[in-house]
Amino acid sequence: MSEYVCEVLTKKHNRKDFDCGVEVLNDYLVRFASQDVKRKAAAVFVFTASEESSRVVGYYTLCATSVELSGLPEEAVKRLPRYPQVPGILIGRLARDVGHPGLGRLLLADALSRCARSAKEIAAAVVVVDAKDKSAADFYSRFGFISLPKMRSRLFLPMETVQKLYSS
Ligand SMILES: CC(C)(COP(=O)(O)OP(=O)(O)OC[C@H]1O[C@@H](n2cnc3c(N)ncnc32)[C@H](O)[C@@H]1OP(=O)(O)O)[C@@H](O)C(=O)NCCC(=O)NCCS
Repeated sequence: MSEYVCEVLTKKHNRKDFDCGVEVLNDYLVRFASQDVKRKAAAVFVFTASEESSRVVGYYTLCATSVELSGLPEEAVKRLPRYPQVPGILIGRLARDVGHPGLGRLLLADALSRCARSAKEIAAAVVVVDAKDKSAADFYSRFGFISLPKMRSRLFLPMETVQKLYSS
């Protein structure tokens, strides 16, 4: 059974063999991820497996974002700061190689625990994800993410919830 290691993306990582079944997400890792890191558009974290330590088998990206308070469901707003824009952390992309089923939940847990830790030093009230299709939205819903009423492809979790579940 594979043991996984999570690292910041560097030149040592082999990304060209990564295949999550979604061309645009494969392509991002090969062509755009390093540029995004360099230009501070996103932080990219990769998972490698013990049997082949430089080959990327999963990745996710994080960056700062904000969401309009008026775009959030009423129930959530009660516990959020009353500013027009609510600060958040965006998990922009998340994908695992087709040869590593079951890694999705580990990627998401790692991303959420990193968000929980970061928000202790730089405040963020929500974690936001962009789901590329209905299936991705269903995956995130499975972990409690709630769709924005006016933008179903964008989902969020209050940081309070994330910190309760993933702070350790
Ligand atoms: C979405 C993705 C990350 C899921 O990875 P995975 O390894 O299959 O996920 P896991 O096996 O860890 O699944 C965790 C749970 O989510 C469920 N799940 C996985 N994919 C799901 C989907 N598309 N819809 C609904 N539930 C899903 C699993 O059944 C499992 O539920 P359980 O705990 O009740 O058994 C993976 O399929 C992938 O990389 N897809 C291509 C890229 C993508 O769509 N990324 C999404 C963000 S844009």
